[in-house]
Amino acid sequence: MQAPDHHKRSIRSFVKRAGRLTPSQQKALAELWPTLGIGYGPELLNLDKVFARAAPAVLEIGFGNGETLVQQAVENQDKNYIGIEVHEPGVGHCLLQARDAGIDNLRLLMHDAIEVLNAQIPLESLARVNLYFPDPWPKKRHHKRRIVQHDFLDLIADRLAANGTLNIATDWAAYAEHIDEILSRSDRFTCTERREHDGENPLDRPRTKFERRGLKKGHRIWDGCFIKTPDH
Ligand SMILES: C[S@@+](CC[C@H](N)C(=O)[O-])C[C@H]1O[C@@H](n2cnc3c(N)ncnc32)[C@H](O)[C@@H]1O
Repeated sequence: MQAPDHHKRSIRSFVKRAGRLTPSQQKALAELWPTLGIGYGPELLNLDKVFARAAPAVLEIGFGNGETLVQQAVENQDKNYIGIEVHEPGVGHCLLQARDAGIDNLRLLMHDAIEVLNAQIPLESLARVNLYFPDPWPKKRHHKRRIVQHDFLDLIADRLAANGTLNIATDWAAYAEHIDEILSRSDRFTCTERREHDGENPLDRPRTKFERRGLKKGHRIWDGCFIKTPDH
């Protein structure tokens, strides 16, 4: 008897948005990706080798068009930045900005961040993980697609070094409640700061494109910083 065919569809936190690459984004992907891009694969990355130096590594999940990511990499040249995004035009845009900024402390991956974290990011290798304005999935039947879940916190905590932080921002009040609830039930993280504001007080980060959109709609912003709890 044949083994049953298990087509287990994993629940993803994104739907690939349609969006055409501009000619310059296309060119950036062809010309800059070989230097700044990292392909998805089953092997753990050696981050010191990837950047040809040892420095604290900061990972941003879902960087959108990358403007915040590039700005942070420019402002903190003593750190290595890794960005993960599935939206190809956003990756193309980010590559162009990185080239214009002339930085060498940034590398990008274009794949589902959950799979990248599981397969390629070594345990205790990151100093900080940034999750800025994750897709809020407002409909109840879609809540399971929200990236902030218990398993996600474990995945991140395992990859953060001692005293590493998870920094999250959202403009969606119901998602902020969800994040508060999931994090308050986790023993892997301790909240070090939490603030709500009207865009004037971002927590240790530049303003992002989606944040500007939310502010235009009159949304309030919620920022939180969570430090990895020492292992017992
Ligand atoms: C609402 S946008 C925010 C973009 C950016 N952080 C900002 O604040 O402007 C969320 C982004 O996360 C990306 N994303 C969602 N889930 C992802 C995943 N599992 N892996 C990689 N990117 C993801 C989406 O493609 C989208 O570009």
